[in-house]
Amino acid sequence: MSDEEKQGPGAGGRGPGRSDESSSAGRRPLSPNSSSGSSLITHHSSLPALTVALPKGRMQDEALMLLRRAGIEVSRGELASRRLAIEDVSGRYRFIFVKPADVPVYVEHGIADCGVVGRDVLLESEADVLQPLDLQISRCRIVVAALTNASQDDHGMMHVATKYPRIAATHFGARGVPVEIIELSGSVELAPMLGLADCIVDLVETGRTLADNGLSIVETITESTGRLVVNRASYQLKAEAVAELISALGAALESGTRKA
Ligand code: PRP
Repeated sequence: MSDEEKQGPGAGGRGPGRSDESSSAGRRPLSPNSSSGSSLITHHSSLPALTVALPKGRMQDEALMLLRRAGIEVSRGELASRRLAIEDVSGRYRFIFVKPADVPVYVEHGIADCGVVGRDVLLESEADVLQPLDLQISRCRIVVAALTNASQDDHGMMHVATKYPRIAATHFGARGVPVEIIELSGSVELAPMLGLADCIVDLVETGRTLADNGLSIVETITESTGRLVVNRASYQLKAEAVAELISALGAALESGTRKA
């Protein structure tokens, strides 16, 4: 299913028009001590909380910054702790911190109502989740890269090292290029240098890791940014809360664009 097909009816910051919050399964009572103090989120003590999965690692800080601009704040003390499930200061949101690849898993299974995750991860996972908002954070590309001084000879079967086996197989399959995909979990840039692969399919943000390991981009497969994803059932059952989150993030994005 394409990104566009998965965008829910509230795409672009407009939430679904109906609300049946009372029937939905709020997982915990709301904390009454709202102290967000920010204008973009209105606190309604009767609404159920949302659980939001955030990716640990490169996208985490940008996601938290965007949430803060949207009026959703997590205390420094909570962030400094090693706790993997924390609440924002209003008690309205619960955040869980998980590996990026696990964000779609938690959201698809409804353990988290929403999540923040890169498009790269979504393409690779093919999870059935809604994608109502491009958060425009952690912009990067997924590329094919090879040793800068590699010969262009055709060796037949090409060996491709990657953390993205599905994206790589789809890319080369569409071009009819025979490849053997070698799946790695990280430090993919080492593979060509050590003779494990002819090229890699990997994420490039600044380009430093490629350059520092003697690699050059051969072609760009696609671009990726962080997305807000929403569980299908939560989108209906917690319509008002989800719409409020989408709207607050949308407003934060717009104000960021205006300032830029
Ligand atoms: C990612 C990616 C590259 C690097 C690119 O790895 O897989 O290795 O970042 O960033 P750059 O273009 O800014 O240099 P990550 O940091 O997620 O670690 P990993 O190698 O363990 O996957």
